[in-house]
Amino acid sequence: MSTATALGRSSESSSSLDDVARAKVQAQSTPPARTTKELKHKTAAPKRYKTVWAALRYLRHLTPQQVDDFMASYVIYNLDWSDEGAMVAALGENYQQRVGECLRAYYGVLNHLCALGDVEKMYIPPWMSRGASVRENQLLYERSIADDLRLQPGQRVLDLGCGRGRVAAHMARYSGALVTGLNIDPNQIGQARAFNQQRGLSNSFVVQDFNSLPLPFDDASFDGFYQIQALSLCKDLPALFAEIFRVVKPGARLSLLDWVSLPAYDAGNAEHAELMRRVKPLIGAVGTPTPASLEQALRQAGFEVERSDNASIDGLQAPLIETVDFYFRSMRQLILALVKMHALPPHFKTLINRLCLDGEAFVKMDNMRLATTSYRIIARKPAA
Ligand SMILES: C[S@@+](CC[C@H](N)C(=O)[O-])C[C@H]1O[C@@H](n2cnc3c(N)ncnc32)[C@H](O)[C@@H]1O
Repeated sequence: MSTATALGRSSESSSSLDDVARAKVQAQSTPPARTTKELKHKTAAPKRYKTVWAALRYLRHLTPQQVDDFMASYVIYNLDWSDEGAMVAALGENYQQRVGECLRAYYGVLNHLCALGDVEKMYIPPWMSRGASVRENQLLYERSIADDLRLQPGQRVLDLGCGRGRVAAHMARYSGALVTGLNIDPNQIGQARAFNQQRGLSNSFVVQDFNSLPLPFDDASFDGFYQIQALSLCKDLPALFAEIFRVVKPGARLSLLDWVSLPAYDAGNAEHAELMRRVKPLIGAVGTPTPASLEQALRQAGFEVERSDNASIDGLQAPLIETVDFYFRSMRQLILALVKMHALPPHFKTLINRLCLDGEAFVKMDNMRLATTSYRIIARKPAA
């Protein structure tokens, strides 16, 4: 995108990313199939010592209550918004509030665990370039969001489920737009504010549960909207999309990247159902939308769907999932050794064991094309 250059702004590692972008174009015409082996040499966390150190320090001082609450929060991933009876049975009539409490307990710890690897931005991106690392693929994907939204300097854009504000920072630097990030977790919002302030960026951040509507914004206040892998935590997608429709301007575009189950998934198939049971807690999904259900909810709210596809090369994210899984399993070995030597407190073992469960099930589901976390939809609010 030319705006960043015109502004004299740089995105993260701009020149190396230009190489990556060129590689991406080439990738469309080169043969597929990087093996796991080929990818393993690409460390998932190059030169991130400060971030890793800060995460370790935070996790070291977790209270027993925080660890217990984190582990207990996994109950929500065995449930699904579509089965309200099971929700009520497990969490009580006030289950929406209880899910919110679990999400705060979960993400308040998870964001630091993810920062131990190269997923400080807590998402595995679409596989956009064969030669690129996980983080470079994230950056490429984020650039594509700015391009799809046609963001211009000074425009306002909403980031729902904004993590630690790292995507917002990249978006602002790349496009010149001003980002408002929204997140249920005050811990991440605190970090997002500090990170963006330190970099002189005017992005703003609010703590809010997107299941508690309305959103705290005026009508038609945003020129664009994006979200990355947060929609499975939304109880009522049509209601949320209607609210987003209200807060964006006529002509504004939406970019969604999310977890969906694909047409090949058959809930009546025992193997499929077992994979789903294992993968939902790993990726932290409560709901399981489909491309069709997302599109329908968008249209119901008044949006026009412009594009609906899997953003990964050949529709496969597995090479990146394998890279992240390999990294965290290696990290687990190190952490277990450090716990054994009493260099880290015992709760690290509890946390890392939970985090590393079922990575291979996620790879398998992706390879079988049963589900993906790289489904992309671009939609538009009709011009007035
Ligand atoms: C899987 S992460 C997605 C990655 C994230 N977009 C990032 O940039 O790191 C989901 C994000 O949505 C936030 N979130 C989850 N449920 C939410 C809710 N009900 N309301 C607002 N934010 C929520 C989480 O705290 C987390 O930051």
